[in-house]
Amino acid sequence: MSAVPTAAQIRQSFLDFFKEKQHTIVPSDNVGYTSRDGARIFTNAGMNQFVPIFLGERSADVDTWPGVLHKGLPTRAADTQKCIRAGGKHNDLEDVGLDTYHHTLFEMLGNWSFGDYFKKEAISWAWELVIERWKFPPTRVFATIYQPGKGDPAERDQEAWDIWAEKFRSIGLDPDIHIVNGNKKDNFWMMGDTGPCGPCTEIHIDLTPGAPNLDEDRQRAGALLVNGSDASCIEIWNNVFIQYNANPDGSFVPLPAQHVDTGMGFERVCSIIQGTKNFTDFETAKISNYDTDVFKPIFDELTKLSGKTYASTLPKANEQGHVVPVTEQ
Ligand code: GLY
Repeated sequence: MSAVPTAAQIRQSFLDFFKEKQHTIVPSDNVGYTSRDGARIFTNAGMNQFVPIFLGERSADVDTWPGVLHKGLPTRAADTQKCIRAGGKHNDLEDVGLDTYHHTLFEMLGNWSFGDYFKKEAISWAWELVIERWKFPPTRVFATIYQPGKGDPAERDQEAWDIWAEKFRSIGLDPDIHIVNGNKKDNFWMMGDTGPCGPCTEIHIDLTPGAPNLDEDRQRAGALLVNGSDASCIEIWNNVFIQYNANPDGSFVPLPAQHVDTGMGFERVCSIIQGTKNFTDFETAKISNYDTDVFKPIFDELTKLSGKTYASTLPKANEQGHVVPVTEQ
């Protein structure tokens, strides 16, 4: 992609990439969803519709699903899923409107393996898409892996570390800088308190101003920003290795097969690619999901209808953490 791509082109590029890897492209499921424990009424992740396959209650048959957009293998799927995170375990409501990258309704790009490929392929393809195809500057890219804290389930994900380390070393980058440990809170993904779950590895991007590629001191500084809840370094993609079922009694029982479940923030990827003009400008870049062509046509129409200009400003939180409307600032 040399010219700055549109959001539609970025979405298609993700789906085409996984089509090349024999994935069946399925349509987005409904956003309305009733979880087994009754705790969720909205689809909060792309994996929701695949839960019966993960649990072994249904065989992997995605190539026969109604409305498939491309028939690939029955054991591999990719899609872009409309998600709502406005309650439950993954509740983004408190952040919406206060930052540039959380929404109540958003699109999650994802790829899945149902007892098919596992960590090696998932991480290698994540690298291939992000670094080799889309050309994110690798010095700004950080991977996180699971390192359990006291009382956390399962063991350290050394396998994921080793696969990432090989990738970073292959282009002369130090894995000890670019791979960051995270405990259960950040690197063990659960849809809710129960259900299929497992260790995950996330990709974070350092968006601090400067040259597209950063020297080693700046890379070390970038690593410290990972998981800091700051727009200067954000997560774009989570690869989950579904291996357990979390039971209501708090136990984690290994599943009959191992699966891959990934979730990429579509609007975030668009904001970085478009905001930096295809990674050429991190110095003056305005990186905000709202400044992409996902939102701009809507804001342009609102401007026309209201006569008020959209100014790309964020409201401030007052001392109680409540949003102060722009007119009162
Ligand atoms: N299921 C992966 C995620 O939502 O991050």
